[in-house]
Amino acid sequence: MPYDVVVIGSGPGGYACAIKAAQLGLKTAVIEKRRTFGGTCLNIGCIPSKALLYASEVYAEANYGFDALGIKVSKPKLNLTKMMRHKQSVIDANTNGVLFLLKKNKIDSFAGMGKILTSSKVEITAEDGSRQVLEAANIVIATGSGVAGISGIEVAFDEKVIVSSTGALSLEQVPKSVVVVGAGVIGSELGLVWHRLGAKVQVIEFLDKALGTMDGELSKHFQRLMEKQGISYKLGAKVTDVRKSKKGAAVTFELLKGNKAEKIEADVVLIATGRRPYTEGLGLQEIGVALDERGYVEIDNHWRTNVAGIYAIGDVVKGPMLAHKAENEGVIVAEILAGQAGHMNFDMIPSVVYTQPEVASVGRTEEELKAAGIGYKVGKFPFTANGRARAMMHTDGFVKILACAKTDRVLGGHILGFSAGEMIHEVTVLMEFGGSSEDLGRTCHAHPTISEAVREAALATFSKPIHL
Ligand code: NAI
Repeated sequence: MPYDVVVIGSGPGGYACAIKAAQLGLKTAVIEKRRTFGGTCLNIGCIPSKALLYASEVYAEANYGFDALGIKVSKPKLNLTKMMRHKQSVIDANTNGVLFLLKKNKIDSFAGMGKILTSSKVEITAEDGSRQVLEAANIVIATGSGVAGISGIEVAFDEKVIVSSTGALSLEQVPKSVVVVGAGVIGSELGLVWHRLGAKVQVIEFLDKALGTMDGELSKHFQRLMEKQGISYKLGAKVTDVRKSKKGAAVTFELLKGNKAEKIEADVVLIATGRRPYTEGLGLQEIGVALDERGYVEIDNHWRTNVAGIYAIGDVVKGPMLAHKAENEGVIVAEILAGQAGHMNFDMIPSVVYTQPEVASVGRTEEELKAAGIGYKVGKFPFTANGRARAMMHTDGFVKILACAKTDRVLGGHILGFSAGEMIHEVTVLMEFGGSSEDLGRTCHAHPTISEAVREAALATFSKPIHL
């Protein structure tokens, strides 16, 4: 009997789509080329990076933060092998968790490369070369993304000296020096991991700011705090060559102001210059599935490609390359396939950078509001004025709320601070319900919590904060 849905790829988009489809009574199969489920996120992305970010944060805290709290410990020693073992155990627990959920929901899983033969046939080629074909009423492409590299130059990744995020999650020893190309999310998170573990980290960025898509004020403060921790930045610098050298690797870059070329060497170079949609070997050209000029699978507002019965979700289609965006799309497409309405609010996708302090954002930035000519009010509140933050010695950063000048509806929330990634969700829910800064400011918040800073920023937007 043919499947109602065959999902190609088992990352957060693909496995969530398969689970929701099965929950809604559809006969579902998943095809995965990796040996484990969970895609980039669980195997070589979000989850392992968070394991290393947490472990390295605790290490840095034990090194530099305990004394001020009155805790005397001898200098902590790093056991990188054990830290990597912790990371692997977290990966295993999560990937096995997906396997369990697929089985629990009676989803058939197939190991191998999926190739779409027609709008109702998918061929699977297993590692040993054996092939089989699945019949499907609907096919969902959830193949994710791969490392983009540096536009215009050939980078010889060996994942030991010249590394992508994959290699940077598995270095066997702490390098003395790391050059990070790209001050985006990966560069910021993994640069900080290796800095905390003892490497000298320099970041080279093409734009004139770190975290290019974030609110400018947040980016500026974030960079300052990273510099205070010891990471150095070269902004407005375009990397034009990366190659192995005697020391490790040499990076050549041109400063955009002055057109001057410079070269630096480091033990390890991390290339974190973005990702690109992964569609290789899927047979899309043969069956006529349209891609846009940047290689993304083209879809309409219901995630339908131009070939009937074939859908696409996650990093392989437009929108931010975020696991939670993919997951939402996966669930929605399953609902559409089961005959339900499917809707996603692309304006309410929070994004978080898991550094310390964290950076979290939802909705529009000040720059975007200015460019769109929308009148807005700003309310800010610093963590230095929050009692709980002081008690925990996490006073870096601030909350910033942007609301419509005419209606007070909240249009954006931006937080730089400890646990910002958790706090952003109250702003997200508020915005999803069309709430105003007054709604947020008049909502009772437990004391003492760092979330009170969010309320105070909302108070500052429509009236005045109490504690400032
Ligand atoms: P990114 O797009 O965040 O940052 C790449 C940076 O590299 C940009 O600032 C760009 O200007 C710079 N760049 C590009 N070419 C350059 C050159 N030749 N010289 C100097 N700088 C150059 O990409 P990133 O950090 O690689 O992350 C990839 C994707 O993965 C992103 O979409 C990101 O959202 C996602 N991701 C999300 C995470 C999270 O949500 N916490 C964690 C890790 C990745």
